[in-house]
Amino acid sequence: MEDIRIHDKTFTTFIDRQEIQQRVQDIAAQINHDYLNEKVLLLGILNGCFMFAADLFRCLTVECEISFIKLSSYQGMSSGGNVQTAIGLKESLKDRHVIILEDIIDTGKTLYSFLPELHAHQPASVKIASLVIKPDALKYPIHVDYSGFTIENKFILGYGLDYDGLGRNLPDIYILKDPNS
Ligand code: IMP
Ligand code: MG
Repeated sequence: MEDIRIHDKTFTTFIDRQEIQQRVQDIAAQINHDYLNEKVLLLGILNGCFMFAADLFRCLTVECEISFIKLSSYQGMSSGGNVQTAIGLKESLKDRHVIILEDIIDTGKTLYSFLPELHAHQPASVKIASLVIKPDALKYPIHVDYSGFTIENKFILGYGLDYDGLGRNLPDIYILKDPNS
């Protein structure tokens, strides 16, 4: 596949759609196994998780519901700023088995700042599923229970992930190309 240009940067193919679908099915199989005879509430963190959430949800066979919230702490290519809940939590989470869905966990700040608010609703359990994790970028103690891909600390886009709003529609995941390559 060819390189693509988004805003001022060049990106190259990194994880193709078949590989993504395979890992999503693997995660779904783990969840179907772990929550057999339980009822699950998936809680997707918008915007980035929507493709992962849709594909994962289709593969679940356990009794499940899905809801979305919006948190925001990311601008351009560096994580920062204050975490805020832009779209609030409407579901009752009390005594529910919640699985948070993230597209990617970078520093972990977004989720780390949100977890106390989540736990205040007294869910029965909370687990985290992230399509991608960047362990070298992690700065907050976040335990990810289900992860699709572990990558080095580089910027990626596609399959829901954006670079300043663009690139979410790409079916494959692309990585920022080294300017010297
Ligand atoms: P964190 O709070 O630093 O863990 O950042 C998490 C959020 O930043 C993710 O949910 C993404 O929306 C965004 N993000 C982190 N890394 C990337 C990346 O490589 N590409 C696109 N978005 C990213
Ligand atoms: Mg996100």
